[in-house]
Amino acid sequence: MTKRTPFIAGNWKMNLDHLQAIALIQKLSWTLSDADHDFSKVEVCVFPPFTDLRSAQTLIEAEKFELKLGAQDLSKHDSGAFTGEVSGAFLSKLGVGYVLIGHSERRQYHAETDEVVRDKVAAAWRHNLVPVICVGETLEELETEGQSAVPVRQTLAALAGHETLGEFVIAYEPVWAIGTGKVATPAEAEAVTKAIRASLKESFGDEVAQSRILYGGSVKANNVAGFLASGEVDGVLVGGASLDAEEFAGIARLQKHIVL
Ligand code: 13P
Repeated sequence: MTKRTPFIAGNWKMNLDHLQAIALIQKLSWTLSDADHDFSKVEVCVFPPFTDLRSAQTLIEAEKFELKLGAQDLSKHDSGAFTGEVSGAFLSKLGVGYVLIGHSERRQYHAETDEVVRDKVAAAWRHNLVPVICVGETLEELETEGQSAVPVRQTLAALAGHETLGEFVIAYEPVWAIGTGKVATPAEAEAVTKAIRASLKESFGDEVAQSRILYGGSVKANNVAGFLASGEVDGVLVGGASLDAEEFAGIARLQKHIVL
């Protein structure tokens, strides 16, 4: 069985212009290299707004930083009359390796359905991007359906109907824990991760079930250890705390103290 490399992802959301992005990426990379961070053992990826990507790419390539670059969304189309949309082809050209798909803020404010998410996953694979498929239940769904039902359903819907599956990452983010300071307990995150993994195994077999599954929602340097301790959760998707270089580096570095 291949070992799953922990993945620490920073979703900047709609924060930081390209100049601020350069400053944050520099500070983050220096902080991690000062701490002898081994990027082959713990992958670190930032997801800036589209307008920052070119500057981020230029900096990362020029300085040979090992930080990975991701985008927050992509179009389900490849090109054409889709004003305002961004093609996966453009992202690939910018050195982007990962793309968030189906974040709850996009499902909530941009009416992204499971079908749209599925189409975007296909678009990501067409352009050699690894989709980070975001799933999670609202407070209402938690109360009516429990914690695992919605994330499992959304995971299977995103992966249904593809001829073959490419690499993907699942990010379990309970909607009620995003930006609220309310955090799922490590035991809850572990239980949902196990349920998602079991559903992957049942539908797609052992190899696909070894895909990485992250937790997200109010993760900070002082609570990340609990989520990763069991080895069930393979990393974290961080919002607010990823905007602070010291804090985000602290989240990435903390892995060093955990036997994975
Ligand atoms: P916070 O870490 O700010 O709760 O955001 C989580 C998130 O939505 C990451 O995608």
